[in-house]
Parts: sequence; C-alpha cells; structure tokens
Amino acid sequence: MTEIKKIAVLGAGLMGHGITQVATQIGKFEVYMRDIEQRFIDNGMTMIRESLQRFVKKGQMTETQMNETLARIHPTLDLKEAVSTADLIIEAAPENIELKKALFREVDNYAPEHAIIASNTSSVSITELASATKRPQKVCGMHFFNPPQLMKLIEVIRGAQTSDETTQTILEVARRMEKETVLVKKDCPGFIVNRILIPALNEAAAIYWEGTADRDDIDKAIKLGLNWPMGPLMLLDYIGSDTTLAIAEVLTKELDPKFHPSTGLKQMVKAQLLGRKTGKGFYDWTQR
Ligand code: CAA
Repeated sequence: MTEIKKIAVLGAGLMGHGITQVATQIGKFEVYMRDIEQRFIDNGMTMIRESLQRFVKKGQMTETQMNETLARIHPTLDLKEAVSTADLIIEAAPENIELKKALFREVDNYAPEHAIIASNTSSVSITELASATKRPQKVCGMHFFNPPQLMKLIEVIRGAQTSDETTQTILEVARRMEKETVLVKKDCPGFIVNRILIPALNEAAAIYWEGTADRDDIDKAIKLGLNWPMGPLMLLDYIGSDTTLAIAEVLTKELDPKFHPSTGLKQMVKAQLLGRKTGKGFYDWTQR
C-alpha cells in the first residue's frame, strides 16, 4: 500500500473545504488546499473555521486541537506547489469533464510518480479521467457527501485500470478519516447514491414546477413519508441545482434517456437560483 502523509485537495468550495477539514481534523494529514482565486480560498478557510468553532462550542474539540487542525492546512493558488510533494491528490473541482481532464493532465505532470490521483466527482467517468494521465492504475474515485464533516459515507470507485493497491490505499485513507465506505466495482455514471438520488430530486423539481404541490408540502411529504432528514427541494438547494443538473445530464447521456432533467430543474439553473451557493434557490438562504 502507498503510505499517505501529504494530501492535496484541489478546490476549496462546498466539497473541497469539507474534505480538507475532515482530512486534517480527523485523518491528521497535512493538506495543501488549492483553488484558482484567493476569494475561493478565503471563503473555504472561513467555512472551515466556522465549522471547527461549532465542534469547539459543543466541547467535541479543544481550542488547541482546532489550532492544530488549522496549522495542518496549507492554502495555495499554486497547483505545482500543492501537488509536487503530495502522496494523494483529491480533485474537487466543478462537475465539468473537460475542466477535470485538463486538471488531471496537469496534475499528472507535477505529481510524484508514486502519487494517487482521486476524484470527488459525483458522476464523471473515472476511466475517462484516468485516460488523461499516464498512471491510470493510480486513479480512483473517492466520492464524499455533503457536508463531508458530518456525512459518514465515501463511495470508492474503481476505474477500468485502477489497481488493487490504489483501491486498498484509498479505503485505508477513508478509514483514517473515520468514514464508512462502499466499493463501486465498475465505473458507472452516478455510482450508487446519485443514480438513485438524482432522479428523485429531478422529480421533486418537476412536481414543484407543474404546481402539483407547494414547496413545503413536497418537502414535508418526503421528510415524513420517507424519513429523510431534509426534503428533496431543500437538499437540492444544499447540493446546488447546477450540480444536480450536471449529474442528470451525464446520467442521460451515458446511461439512459430516462434520466433527462426536468424543465423545473433547468429553469432553476437558468435563473441562477442555485441554492445555498447563490443565496437563493427553492429557499431563501440569505437570512439563515
Ligand atoms: N460543521 C460542523 N457541524 C455542523 C455542520 C458543519 N458544516 N453543519 C451542521 N453541523 C451540526 C450543527 O451544529 C448541529 O449540531 P447540534 O445538533 O449538536 O446542534 C448538527 O450538525 C445538525 O445541524 P442542523 O441543526 O443545522 O441541521 P440538521 O439537523 O438538518 O442536520 C444535516 C444537518 C446533517 C446536513 C442533515 O440535514 C442531513 O443529513 N441532511 C441530508 C444531507 C444529505 O443528504 N447529503 C448528501 C447530499 S448528496 C451528495 O452530497 C452527493 C452528491 O454528489 C450530490
């Protein structure tokens, strides 16, 4: 197994900052958190500090442990600096295959030969990402759930050429982060969770858009009828309607036309009502 000491997390957004936090707070890894603009890094660090403060306030962590966690985080804008001494790179960039492939190509040039490149993608093909590198056996899917600080699961996805050693190393890293894992043995769009979740969210947006039921009743129905911790429209705001649409489009293109995104979902994205990240979605997040 490859020994993992240093991790580079590429992206400081909704998922990247949470992955960085879990890796440093629980896994005790040194992490280079890289993004392309200073404001994204600053925002990610603010979210990490706020989240750590919550644990401190509840007595689940001391001030010293919080400061030690923060000291293990090395924010940077420089991709080469982030990956050139990393043992594991976890990519958490936006769900755009061309952007991710370009990033994988660049990372492959800078990262040490032994390093594993994992992707937190929700739907993009791991095999295709691996094809952008000269180390497809060292490329793997490592899919966290939002918010990574609280959600227990990581889906570990094997690409067509992922080696047993890479898979075992990722499973071990997840164990060090105190996460539960499931192994997706074949690279398939949406893996397990999103293949089941995204059609449900898409349908919730369609019911809302048709006017069949009001927002609060749609969410109440699923919260109480299925015991979900939050309703599907609130969850859509949580994930982002743009991300949900991107996943639905991949499922439609790669798997089956039955996954096609609803007009309601597409309209939310066109109107930039993306959810928490823009302050407004199905709910108003500006006052929360
Ligand atoms: N850091 C630290 N603590 C946090 C936190 C954070 N980022 N966010 C919330 N918390 C804490 C709160 O302080 C609170 O603590 P106490 O109970 O001790 O007061 C606790 O977590 C619960 O938070 P809230 O009261 O704000 O809200 P909640 O009870 O609804 O729980 C939740 C929040 C855990 C997110 C819960 O609503 C939930 O499980 N929602 C579903 C999330 C989900 O389905 N995620 C998967 C999305 S799909 C995905 O990610 C895959 C993909 O590819 C699209």
